[in-house]
Amino acid sequence: MTKTLRYIKPYGATVVWGLILKFIGSVAELFLPLLLKWIIDDVAANDALNGDQKLKWTLVLGGLMLVCALAALLGNIFANRLTVKSSGRMTHDLRYDLFKKTSYLNSGQVDSFGVPSLISRLTSDSYYVNQMVARTLRLGVRAPILILGGLILAFSQDVILASVLLACVPLVGIIVFLITRKSVPVFFEVQKKQDDMVRRTQENVTGVRVIKALTKGEYEVGKFEEVTQDLASTEFRANRIMSLSNPLASLTLNLGLVVLIVVGAVCHTSSGTVLEFLQFFTIILNAMISLSKIFVVISRGSASASRIESVLAMDTEEKIGNFPEGDKKYKIQFKDVGFSYNGVENNLNNVNLAICGGQTLGIIGATGSGKSTLINLLMRFYDVGEGQIFIDGRDVRNYPNAELRKKFGVVFQNDFLMAASVRENVDYGRNLTDEQINKAIDCAQAREFIDGLDGGLDFDLAQKANNLSGGQKQRLLIARALASTPEILILDDSSSALDYATDAALRKALAREYASCTKVIVAQRISSIKHADLILVLDDGNIIGEGTHEQLLESCEEYSIIYATQMGAERGDA
Ligand SMILES: Nc1ncnc2c1ncn2[C@@H]1O[C@H](COP(=O)(O)OP(=O)(O)O)[C@@H](O)[C@H]1O
Ligand SMILES: [Mg+2]
Repeated sequence: MTKTLRYIKPYGATVVWGLILKFIGSVAELFLPLLLKWIIDDVAANDALNGDQKLKWTLVLGGLMLVCALAALLGNIFANRLTVKSSGRMTHDLRYDLFKKTSYLNSGQVDSFGVPSLISRLTSDSYYVNQMVARTLRLGVRAPILILGGLILAFSQDVILASVLLACVPLVGIIVFLITRKSVPVFFEVQKKQDDMVRRTQENVTGVRVIKALTKGEYEVGKFEEVTQDLASTEFRANRIMSLSNPLASLTLNLGLVVLIVVGAVCHTSSGTVLEFLQFFTIILNAMISLSKIFVVISRGSASASRIESVLAMDTEEKIGNFPEGDKKYKIQFKDVGFSYNGVENNLNNVNLAICGGQTLGIIGATGSGKSTLINLLMRFYDVGEGQIFIDGRDVRNYPNAELRKKFGVVFQNDFLMAASVRENVDYGRNLTDEQINKAIDCAQAREFIDGLDGGLDFDLAQKANNLSGGQKQRLLIARALASTPEILILDDSSSALDYATDAALRKALAREYASCTKVIVAQRISSIKHADLILVLDDGNIIGEGTHEQLLESCEEYSIIYATQMGAERGDA
């Protein structure tokens, strides 16, 4: 937790001012019972004073009470403002760093946390840390001052009555302690359930199309209901336990008061003193209840702080390796590459391939055969388990990340477009020239539909580009990938929504306009990769066929079967 608390340091001055104001406010509050007692016992019931003098002193002391009450009120208000300011800014800084860290996590690290958990850490966990700091600053000084100061003042007034008060304090303390101890684990449970709910919500939001397509709406709503119910009942349980603390503490207070009055009567204590003690009782009791609330927010907040810190502690520093060189004659080369996501079973086995600059690599295979994994390794989203991958004869692990990624123009499977203009989407913050943008749009066969849009390049896309068709989205994504004139273009299953004619026109334009660019094309359709210089057929992480289209038709049975089913008619013509 110390690492999180260090975030408050820059706002130390604000915190200290807040605490000083809190201190002044709390002390002023403690003087109220004392003044009240003076008015009742030393003025109203004092026979040595005449009527005028009594009025005068009552007004003076009453005025002082007003001043103290105002000081307590204003001290609290301004202190709370300062507290909100410092805790708010601190949370902002923490969230900023957490977000930055999260965006630098490598893919394996993201997998280890899980995206929903990272989202809760950024949202609810940082909120709990905020609550912990804010509440502790607000009540952490006030409560102890009120309890200690109240006891000291009480003892200075009447030792016997103060002893009754002192006897009640541990009793209330035990009640509060027991209740807090019981509720804290339940609050942790609440936090975990919140993770579940975020995960469900996220799955539903991102998978809304699939859910609709499979008419699984009702099923998902049911599942969601389960998760929210679970969360609600856990929250209810936690709060039910907490809600015991107020009535139980009040009961102790009332019992204490009865004892106090009885003791007062036996000892002939003045009515002013009894009233004064009644106020001390209330002040101290409330302070103890707020202390119990601090314990809850601290235990909750410290759990959240450690969840946040475990992300912040991740090593995201770039490690530039010094692995042996490969063959410089190839643009891309895989040498005996093996890889596993979970370290148990291999998702890729013994992959070997080599292509030269400007050539095209085609990859085909069933879903889950490892096509995207191969791309992930090439772009170094994950490091290989075995073997080496070279670009321009240099191991990908020997490149600084920025230098490596700059070589690529990529359209991922299920890639996304921003809710921004067409131009912004193609440019993607890279300050490309109009010439680059237009060339990319032409080549991606996106010119015609963009010209038809209201505003052309300035047409605004909706959230997730829902105002474009699937094929239009793909063409725009391809334009985005091409616009920076990359050395290597990767299209991961990203021409599937294009009709055959557009797909063919795209291939021709790529060959003509981006001849020096090396292309890696993952496709389900043989027509998209038929022309490639090298085609890999993947099955369950293994290469089961490689070569040109013609070679594969001879050598790879699976390939010729796919070809036969996809283009029977075409083959007949040939
Ligand atoms: N992040 C991941 N964590 C664990 N397993 C994964 C991950 N991504 C993909 N896989 C698994 O690796 C295998 C290959 O997946 P992938 O390369 O995406 O297949 P393809 O792109 O050919 O459809 C699949 O069994 C898939 O479940
Ligand atoms: Mg894939």
